[in-house]
Amino acid sequence: MVATSEAQMIVAHRGASFDAPENTLASFQEAWKQKADAIEGDFYLTKDGHIVCMHDKTTKRTTGGAAELKPADATLEQLRALEVGAWKNDKFSGERIPLLEEVLATVPQNGKILVEVKCGPEIVEPLRVGLEKSSLKPEQIVIICFDDEVVKQCREKMPQYKANWLTSYKQNPETGKWSPSVKSVLNTLRETKATGLGTQARDEVVTVEFVKQIRDAGVECHVWTVNDEAQAKRYASLGFDSITTDKPAAIRHALAEG
Ligand code: G3P
Ligand code: CA
Repeated sequence: MVATSEAQMIVAHRGASFDAPENTLASFQEAWKQKADAIEGDFYLTKDGHIVCMHDKTTKRTTGGAAELKPADATLEQLRALEVGAWKNDKFSGERIPLLEEVLATVPQNGKILVEVKCGPEIVEPLRVGLEKSSLKPEQIVIICFDDEVVKQCREKMPQYKANWLTSYKQNPETGKWSPSVKSVLNTLRETKATGLGTQARDEVVTVEFVKQIRDAGVECHVWTVNDEAQAKRYASLGFDSITTDKPAAIRHALAEG
């Protein structure tokens, strides 16, 4: 693990997903090769109670259109039968949708994982069991989610793990105002007892003042998804705890240059 000058953690978004098919073991292995500090992956609960790693609501895109299964309506066997690497490049043909435990097993002793929950609170108990079974230390695991109820339940039921609330922003075309407002973000952080905020890299919203208000609330500040080097430098200068990127090696290199 290589520390940057500002000590931002470099998080590989869906693995090193610029170079390898997102949310596959190939992508996570590539992230560690690129010396990411952490990997980020997306997780759903299957119909038969397994936790699988995929991003979209269905398998359509990552199977190149071959199958359109929703994880909650499919069994592990049905999902594992699908090929999810070739859409990116034929050299990745044969990649399968990984299980949570397989992704956790890639994490080295000095690495971390951001487990993004993509479904609802029904995953919380199986997730707790899955995480507690792994050989990783609690400080190596961070749960992240856009759903405030999931964050709240994770903080209550497995307080040994950090759980960060994620938000993106929408602009009202008439007023020009962005939502949620900082006040609303702060409310959600307080109500969920989130350990941090994972904010979308929306430069119009994420200003020095914005970061100050989040910091003053006593929580961590993380940003996703930054693939542009100049933008990464801006977020580093704002003092973010981590920068999530599809290109961990390139962004680390850019930040080391200063
Ligand atoms: O790290 C948070 C980020 O991954 C959320 O966006 O759509 O890429 O899962 P998404
Ligand atoms: Ca994600």
